[in-house]
Amino acid sequence: MRTAATVAQLREARASLSGPVGFVPTMGALHEGHLSLVARARERCACVVASVFVNPLQFGPGEDFDRYPRTPAADAAALERAGVDVLFAPSRDEMYPPGAQFTVRPGPLAAYLEGDRRPGFFTGVATVVLKLFNAVAPDAAFFGQKDAQQLAVVRRMVRDLDLPIDIVACPIVREPDGLAMSSRNAYLTPEQRAAAPRLHAALTLLADAIANGARDVDAAVARAEAALPPLKMDYLAVVDPAVFEPLHEAPPHAALLAAGAAFAGATRLIDNVEVRTP
Ligand code: PAF
Repeated sequence: MRTAATVAQLREARASLSGPVGFVPTMGALHEGHLSLVARARERCACVVASVFVNPLQFGPGEDFDRYPRTPAADAAALERAGVDVLFAPSRDEMYPPGAQFTVRPGPLAAYLEGDRRPGFFTGVATVVLKLFNAVAPDAAFFGQKDAQQLAVVRRMVRDLDLPIDIVACPIVREPDGLAMSSRNAYLTPEQRAAAPRLHAALTLLADAIANGARDVDAAVARAEAALPPLKMDYLAVVDPAVFEPLHEAPPHAALLAAGAAFAGATRLIDNVEVRTP
């Protein structure tokens, strides 16, 4: 595995790769979920580039940028074992040189749920993902379904800005008790970790209710919310995954998403469950 710290080094390494190149962008602190993206990329592409960059632009004031887990040596070793050809691990100044001004502002898709709760988050994500795409020039890029709205924003950016990149959605990887894997799970105390699967349990209740014909989404959300404590609800919603605006009434014969965010102490967990209405 070659490691590049600058865009120039990355482009030199990229030029030596032949065949379709798959790209897995990450913020490090890698877990099985990330490695499943690499495995998918290896199945689909001749070569794989991964990036590790904790993107300051997608953290709001008071969020966890400073304490976000950073495990660069373990990440590099895991990516090498997983068969990554090139690791791009740039510095903050390399990605955002002093004086950088331009950002990518997503449209209405980014206004709801995560975008509503974390102002500026999707501008930060879209900007760094576009910069990474420009640096790596991949044929395909692999994103986890756990961050479903992020995936939708990236898909929309690729479509609206004519980027020749195939965006591949990869299934959520869960712990045996249902908790979606996340680098932020490392923050959880044993008590919080024990409560954390309740988000998935509440979303499953919500999805089952809608799949069984409940049309009144607000009533179904209120029932699912009761399954969350001791987690504190941020939001539970049912959305069309192409739009992300919370629905009040579930339409018939629709492929929807039950999506939610909840706090275990100060740690914010997100998750989602697919649902098809009768
Ligand atoms: O999902 C993530 O880890 C990040 O949002 C991403 C896509 C690497 C951009 O910083």
